[in-house]
Amino acid sequence: MALLKIRKFPDTVLKQPASAVEQIDGRLNGFIDSMVQTMYAAPGVGLAAPQVGDSRRIVVLDTDHDDPGKHLLKLINPQVVEADGSIIWEEGCLSVIDFTADVQRAARVLVRAWTPDEKEIEIEADDLLAVALQHEIDHLDGKLFIDRISRIKRELYRRKITKMIKEGKADGKPPSAVRI
Ligand code: NI
Repeated sequence: MALLKIRKFPDTVLKQPASAVEQIDGRLNGFIDSMVQTMYAAPGVGLAAPQVGDSRRIVVLDTDHDDPGKHLLKLINPQVVEADGSIIWEEGCLSVIDFTADVQRAARVLVRAWTPDEKEIEIEADDLLAVALQHEIDHLDGKLFIDRISRIKRELYRRKITKMIKEGKADGKPPSAVRI
């Protein structure tokens, strides 16, 4: 099983809306397992397929790294079907180096998705899992958390990264805050 290369902002694949998975088979499951390995190796609490250059609606999540695998979620075509409340969380992302920001999201969500063994499931989530689910589903819609902060902050970050790339300093790791 190979680790996959994580794409970083401003890679254009991160802006493309992903398409729905129409068939679940062994090949797809092999790819999902590679995503899981890549997420743990990063390390991150979540990873969406567009982050490894694949525009399909797949995410993997594990918000409990003290006990890896126990709460692992592999979700195909996930969608938020209910959301309420409001929460602010300091987010970071494996695809956004050197930056974190407070982002406002729904405090509780109900997410419906398919599993690799072709079951349709519902997940009720709050706190970090609710934040991570919304962050990953954003990735499937071509959105990053920096699209949810003020224009000024986003522009300052864009300039900083452009400068870092020019100077060959953009191979930095994402910050050690929650990386999703
Ligand atoms: Ni992310």
